[in-house]
Amino acid sequence: MIRHLRSAADLDAADATLILDTAGEMASLTGGREVKKLPALRGRTVVNLFYEDSTRTRISFEAAAKRLSADVINFSAKGSSVSKGESLKDTALTLQAMGADAVVIRHPASGAPHRLAEWVDGSVVNAGDGTHEHPTQALLDAYTMRSRMGRLDGLRVAIVGDVLHSRVARSNVLLLTTLGAQVTLVGPPTLIPLDVAAALSEKTQVSYDLDAVVPDSDVVMMLRVQSERMQDSYFPSAREYSRRYGLDVARLRKMPEHAIVMHPGPMNRGMEIAPEVADSPRSTIVEQVANGVSVRMAVLYLLLGGK
Ligand code: NCD
Repeated sequence: MIRHLRSAADLDAADATLILDTAGEMASLTGGREVKKLPALRGRTVVNLFYEDSTRTRISFEAAAKRLSADVINFSAKGSSVSKGESLKDTALTLQAMGADAVVIRHPASGAPHRLAEWVDGSVVNAGDGTHEHPTQALLDAYTMRSRMGRLDGLRVAIVGDVLHSRVARSNVLLLTTLGAQVTLVGPPTLIPLDVAAALSEKTQVSYDLDAVVPDSDVVMMLRVQSERMQDSYFPSAREYSRRYGLDVARLRKMPEHAIVMHPGPMNRGMEIAPEVADSPRSTIVEQVANGVSVRMAVLYLLLGGK
C-alpha cells in the first residue's frame, strides 16, 4: 500500500480496489451497530488541517478517524497562527513535533499536499487542493457507483459542468479510467478546454451537448458551478447555463431506467441541478455522504497500516 494519498493517480487498480473493498467491510462492521467504533487506530493521531471552508469533507474525515478510535486534532486556518502569516512549512514542523501519524489537508493552493509530504513523516491525505485534486471524493463516488451498479468496468459515466475548476472531476477521471469506466466530460467549451481534457486523460470523451449524452449514460455526475473560482464570465447567464447544462426533470426522464444521478455537494439547486432531481430516488447524493465516512475509514486504516 502507498504511504500518501495526494492524487488519484497514486492509486493503481489493485490499490483502488483494495480501498473500495475495505470500505465495504468498514460499512458492514459499523453499519448496524449501536457503537460505531473499531479499535484499529487506537493511540494514533490524525490531524485535520483545513485552510479552506468545508462542511462534508471535514466532518467526514473526523467521523472516520474517530470511528477507528484515533486521536483527532482539528486545525482550521481561521483562529490559528496561519492568520498571523505562519507558513505551511512551519505549521508542518509543528505537526511533526506533535507526532501526527496522518495529516489530512485541504488547501486553496494546488500542490500543497505534495509539499507537506516532504516535511512530515506521517501519511498525507489530500482533502482537496485548489482546482487540482480531491482523491477521497473520487473514491467515495466510485464506491457509490459500484454498490449501485455492481461494477465499474465498462460503466458509462458523464461528468457534467464546471470541469475546468473541479478537483472532483480531475480525480474522478483519473480513478474511473484506472478502474475501467468510460468517462465523458460534458459542459460548455469554455469550461472544458480541449487541452485540459487531453492533459487529463486520453481515454475520456468530450461533448458539449448534454441531451446527446444523457440517454447513453449509466451515471450522470453533476458538478457545482464554482463561481468563487471564476474571474471571467464563462457563460452568458445562470439561466442560459441551466437551460443547456442543468439536469432537470425532462433530462432525467431521458436517462436509462437504471441510471443514477450524483453530485459531490454543495449544490446550487436550480442551477446545475433541479431540486426535484436532487431529491429524486435516482439521486445518490445523500448516500455519497454516508459512503464517504466508510471510504475515509478505509483510506486512513490502510495508509496507517492499522491492525
Ligand atoms: C467539493 C470540493 O470542495 O471540492 N465538495 C466536496 O468536497 N464535497 C466540490 C465543490 O466544492 O463543488
